[in-house]
Amino acid sequence: MESPELAAIDIQNLPQHIAVIMDGNGRWAKLHNMPRLFGHKQGVKAVREITEASAELGIKFLTLYAFSTENWSRPEMEVMGLMSLLVETIKAELNTLEKNNIRLRAIGDLSKLPDNTRTALLSGIEKTKRNTRMDLVLALNYSSRWEILSAVNKIAEQSKNENIHLPIDEAVFSSYLSTNGIPDPELLIRTSGEHRISNFLLWQLAYTEFHFSNVFWPDFRKKNLYEAILDFQKRQRRFGKTSEQIAR
Ligand code: FPP
Repeated sequence: MESPELAAIDIQNLPQHIAVIMDGNGRWAKLHNMPRLFGHKQGVKAVREITEASAELGIKFLTLYAFSTENWSRPEMEVMGLMSLLVETIKAELNTLEKNNIRLRAIGDLSKLPDNTRTALLSGIEKTKRNTRMDLVLALNYSSRWEILSAVNKIAEQSKNENIHLPIDEAVFSSYLSTNGIPDPELLIRTSGEHRISNFLLWQLAYTEFHFSNVFWPDFRKKNLYEAILDFQKRQRRFGKTSEQIAR
């Protein structure tokens, strides 16, 4: 049976790109007297459910913040556990992604990932590259300041050998970011009651609507995604204009 939240969604007014800061795996595990890694494993269930729900709705891009450049400072066991979980998950879900016409992509500094994680990821990206229903973008070893600095350095490097047309505009700068070709998210969801951006998509979130959920990520279900979308649909996106200008 269709949930009341789903029934209330206006399919004509969906965000085409949703970005998610999946937070609260550790606290969820603590609450259940389990090791932190168990929280991440439960988090994978939510990843599966939210990916499925997004594709069903017709969302075109879903970006998940899976590992930040700062996450390396966590205990080694947790970091290694997360990396193995990524490999396992990508391998286990590849057929489902294929069957559902979902394209896997990644943003972040992949060169620093353990070899087996990078290999599994790149092979998943390669296998699904022709899929067109939805892009599932994993932010891995990602941070926005890293991304912006990389773009600046690439531009500076290039300018040594070529004439770069100045001034650089937003479209040109965006093309140097790892999200090149991906539209900015219209909706950002952060779970677990935290209200921070945590170095995620700083450039791309300039006009994004934020939805904060108190639910820990492992408990985040389709219903919670629908609530976030309904919240988004209640907002009026003005892009710096007045309400009167928008109404016209
Ligand atoms: C935040 O919870 C979660 C992470 C840093 C990792 C998210 C990873 C997964 C859900 C599993 C793998 C993902 C994919 C895409 C296959 P936290 O550990 O910061 O929680 P806490 O704030 O309660 O400690």
